[in-house]
Amino acid sequence: MNILVLGGGGREHALCWKLAQSAAIAEDGGTLYAAPGNPGIAECALLVSLDAGDHDAVTAFCRERAIGLVVIGPEAPLVDGLADSLRSASIAVFGPSRDAAQLEGSKNFTKGLCDRAGIPTAGYVHCASLEQAKQALSTFSPPFVLKADGLAAGKGVVIAENEDHAIEALADMFGGAFGDAGAEVVIEEFMEGEEVSLFALTDGESVIPFGTAQDHKRVGEGDTGPNTGGMGAYSPARVLTEALLAESMERIVFPTVRQMHKEGTPYVGVLYAGLMLTSEGPKLVEYNCRFGDPECQVLMMRLESDLAQYMLAASAGTLAALPEPSFAEDTAMTVVMAADGYPGTPKKGGTIDLDGAEREGVKVFHAGTKLADGALVANGGRVLNVTATGPSTKAAQHAAYAAVAKIDFPTGFYRTDIGWREIEREG
Ligand code: AMP
Ligand code: GLY
Repeated sequence: MNILVLGGGGREHALCWKLAQSAAIAEDGGTLYAAPGNPGIAECALLVSLDAGDHDAVTAFCRERAIGLVVIGPEAPLVDGLADSLRSASIAVFGPSRDAAQLEGSKNFTKGLCDRAGIPTAGYVHCASLEQAKQALSTFSPPFVLKADGLAAGKGVVIAENEDHAIEALADMFGGAFGDAGAEVVIEEFMEGEEVSLFALTDGESVIPFGTAQDHKRVGEGDTGPNTGGMGAYSPARVLTEALLAESMERIVFPTVRQMHKEGTPYVGVLYAGLMLTSEGPKLVEYNCRFGDPECQVLMMRLESDLAQYMLAASAGTLAALPEPSFAEDTAMTVVMAADGYPGTPKKGGTIDLDGAEREGVKVFHAGTKLADGALVANGGRVLNVTATGPSTKAAQHAAYAAVAKIDFPTGFYRTDIGWREIEREG
């Protein structure tokens, strides 16, 4: 079978690396295509130039190359309805419809769904104007959690320490700092606790847990400084114990999938639940309608099952027929090497030498790279995801940083403490 992966970051590199090992590609003579891909992805897939925003062009390509499955990596094409266009052309897709992708595309949609299905999450008020938002602030106490309603590339959440700061941030949101995404705002109660990411695959009815991870969203050591797309992650996140995992599935993920089905917008694909482990139990922080980046990289390092088989079953509605997926017991860790300036304006074009970094159990996924005159250079904020496995989080960390030390990327930087919470617990 031929498979097409859309996207060109570290998440898509990890997905392509794993899909290339699937029987559909590795044994049955299928071709793995990626658009636009990147130089790392080019090592395991055939790169093609396709605009994910041009649904007719993607559909025509799929017909011409007899694509048996399209995997949509990032959220924007999902929220834009690419999966709907492909499904209406009878092309199998891993990823939710436009309506179902509202779980990531609209904070207010998700809050409303939590209300309707009784899912534990932070209390909130939805505001359609700055005046309304200012009034609503008085019903919360600091720190204030302010969220632009729509997609804002991970930058639409502000945690304001005091009321002045909150009003300033609200004025920015309603003033268009996040474009249309900020035309409506959700103000939330602040939840205390540790964050963890839980992944589940679903075909709209059946749901299977698909691994846990912990991301490190702040740019600085010890989780300080501005938010980023994620500076590193490890899996599994053992802080989500068996009991807490079961509780999160029962109280959050299953009711979500059931409610989406009941409302006529069944969710197909991977559901990424960002959870807060509060003193009152796990609560939903947010949903994403795709794999996490860089969480996907650590999940794929541990996945032993055939990824294409699970994605196909999710798209075909036959997930119930598959056994639980198998993940290695080992911990996987990924360290993000970012370009100087990130998460502001990253310095592009810096040279990268990866020679000698990869070995058994160590994989360098490309997140933002390109070839310039045959040489690898930085081409984005997050540039490399240096990923390694080990029998403990400490061992995985040791292996990941040993690989980082072998990489020559003078205009890059990275956090040196990925996994610190879990390593403290391991003792
Ligand atoms: P989101 O984009 O909704 O995941 O929010 C980005 C980050 O803001 C989350 O990963 C949390 O660290 C933080 N955050 C969001 N909502 C809350 C909340 N209600 N209470 C505490 N922290 C939050
Ligand atoms: N790493 C966070 C995200 O993918 O949204």
